[in-house]
Amino acid sequence: MKDYISKDPWKIIENGFHPEFNKITESLCALGNGKMGLRGNFAESYSGETLQGTYFAGIYYPDKTKVGWWKNGYPEFFAKVLNACNWIGLKVFIGEEELDLHKCNILSFQRVLDMRQGTLQRSCTFTTANGHEISLNTERFCSFHDDEMGALKFNINAKNFSGKIKIESYLDFDIVNEDSNYDEKFWNESKISSAEVIYNEATTKKTNFHLGLALKTRVTHGGKQIKRSSIGQKEKYISEIFEFEYTTDTEVNIQKIIAANSSFYYAQTELESRAIEKCATAFDAGFEELKNSHVNAWSKKWDQSDIQIEGDVSAQQGIRFNIFHLNQTYSGKDDRLNIGPKGFTGEKYGGSTYWDTEAYCLPFYLSTADQEVGRNLLVYRFKHLTKAIENAQKLGFENGAALYPMVTIDGEECHNEWEITFEEIHRNGAIAYAIYNYINYTGDEAYLAEFGLEVLIGISRFWTERVNWSEAKQAYVMLGVTGPNEYENNVNNNWYTNYIAKWCLKYTIECIDKVRQSESNDWQKISTKVAFSEDEPNNWNKIIEKLYFPIDEEKGIFLQQDNFLDKEIIKVADLDPKHLPINQNWSWDRILRSCYIKQADVLQGLYFFEDHFDKETIRKNFDFYEPLTVHESSLSPCVHSVLANYLDKKEKAYEMYLRTSRLDIDDYNNDTEDGLHITSMAGTWISIVEGFGGMRVKDNHLHFAPKLPQNWESLSFTINFRSALIHIKIDQKEIYLENTNLCQ
Ligand code: BGC
Repeated sequence: MKDYISKDPWKIIENGFHPEFNKITESLCALGNGKMGLRGNFAESYSGETLQGTYFAGIYYPDKTKVGWWKNGYPEFFAKVLNACNWIGLKVFIGEEELDLHKCNILSFQRVLDMRQGTLQRSCTFTTANGHEISLNTERFCSFHDDEMGALKFNINAKNFSGKIKIESYLDFDIVNEDSNYDEKFWNESKISSAEVIYNEATTKKTNFHLGLALKTRVTHGGKQIKRSSIGQKEKYISEIFEFEYTTDTEVNIQKIIAANSSFYYAQTELESRAIEKCATAFDAGFEELKNSHVNAWSKKWDQSDIQIEGDVSAQQGIRFNIFHLNQTYSGKDDRLNIGPKGFTGEKYGGSTYWDTEAYCLPFYLSTADQEVGRNLLVYRFKHLTKAIENAQKLGFENGAALYPMVTIDGEECHNEWEITFEEIHRNGAIAYAIYNYINYTGDEAYLAEFGLEVLIGISRFWTERVNWSEAKQAYVMLGVTGPNEYENNVNNNWYTNYIAKWCLKYTIECIDKVRQSESNDWQKISTKVAFSEDEPNNWNKIIEKLYFPIDEEKGIFLQQDNFLDKEIIKVADLDPKHLPINQNWSWDRILRSCYIKQADVLQGLYFFEDHFDKETIRKNFDFYEPLTVHESSLSPCVHSVLANYLDKKEKAYEMYLRTSRLDIDDYNNDTEDGLHITSMAGTWISIVEGFGGMRVKDNHLHFAPKLPQNWESLSFTINFRSALIHIKIDQKEIYLENTNLCQ
């Protein structure tokens, strides 16, 4: 755990430079607007530890996979969101010496992510190796108002230097992904031009996406504008160069304004002219005007989605940080996009979609954005249904059975580890559950006939073929699976997977009946399209009745899998802490045989289906499983926090809340340098609203059962529920609700 970020309700502040944590701070300070984003890298060259990262939504490359022992059914490619053109880049030469903080003696330093405004600022003073005393102030943003624009301001002042200064402001596509499997570069140069505005366009290999950026730079020295001296150009790289005689202690102000667009949105032939025109117009308006509209857009977003916690600045900073990054990652405007576990903050997980979206992210967007946004997350999967059916076919399933990929960008499976790719099939359940969750929350029943039902039928068909009849047990069983707890593989009858499969079969039957009755024309079309047979629900009912569930009557618990109790059960608290985290200290073999649980598994099911069980059952399972859980997935603490609140375990709920909300700020899992845990951030939101707020939606109504931690004076949040915008304030004694739509 690290503790170098100052506590502040609206800001992430690094006081004093911590080069050893620079990659962590770069992740924390990433900016984005749903369409593009970049890590909090320095604009000027930096030879210390850094991961230069700039990412654009929807632009990916299918990298050839690297696998030790190939298994039939593995996909050959792993689609990755690409590290793309570095647009903040500046090379600054003071005399002959290039500015590089790694080689300087730093006198003062502050890096500030201002979450209210959506800007990243840095101010520092330092002396260079040649003894020049420099002060630097810089600010940047990715426009929230116009998601194709970005801007950087960079001011420098040299106290004891007069002489030549050279500034090279560039657009660089000569970029390699840190996670490139064969060190291959994924971009080809496609077009470079240099008029008033410079332009750099590159094309992805294989997928042939075009991405074009236009840049115009303004440099002033003591308020006087400096003319561009020349253009620098090499492969995939173009720059504007400014050279001038610098007079000591006079401010140099640099402004970079960029416009970016891609063939994901526009015809390739339009890209250059569109970007150049936008950039020129924005340049005339200037940095401050662009910033004003950006800050206003953020202010509206905060009105919809802010959570206020009075009396606990750590908790406040944690939740705002999470909400900030969720809003930066996904705007919900486009149903072809989704939420990668790292968003625009790093390359791990390839920017792809996991079950995280359906299981964790959906509730945040349902409550804080327009209904369309949540719907788009579901439509994304509907659009991939054909590929999910093909994916299941590759594994030997038939009759329209659909297995959604574990990891995907465009519907193709990208994951290559048999115990996950083929066995972690509970993901299908989460996709079905999200349909239920969305309809339960919004009341949008029409979604079923339009898109949802076909997905449910495909998934139900998969479960039907995935179970088999066991003569020995006289029940249907599901063999060879991996549950959400990836620290056990190839187990039989994972309780969670069996439960969600059974629920899904039942829900699909209910939904078919509903659509058949209320939208009979639609049902005709759907049943023809999917070649539905009236026998199918009968078959599903047999499985519903006779699906096997491992339980231990004596302990009163559901067993994570058939043989869970054969394991040696030792609580995490009784392990010598030197073993933790086990994923960094133990062999995989030792982990698999141990009783330790990576993330909620049985408890994930009890969280989803709380209404199906009495409190005592939930308590017994929580008391058995939580002490065995190492929470080594970022997705773990949030679910435990909600359940702990439900069970009145206040201290546990608070401990788990801080762990989920400050996971990245405090670098709990020692991996923030790879990028932030964006999807678990939505879990943090759940732990506040469903946990401390106790919010549930039942029978078309909102319910609240608040339980505030003792040190919180109050908790406030806003919920977009159907036609109401409800502001909720909870203090230690009361709850206040206001439908702000009615008050307008
Ligand atoms: C978790 C998965 C999750 C993935 C991406 C893994 O560590 O175990 O449940 O889908 O990370 O967030």
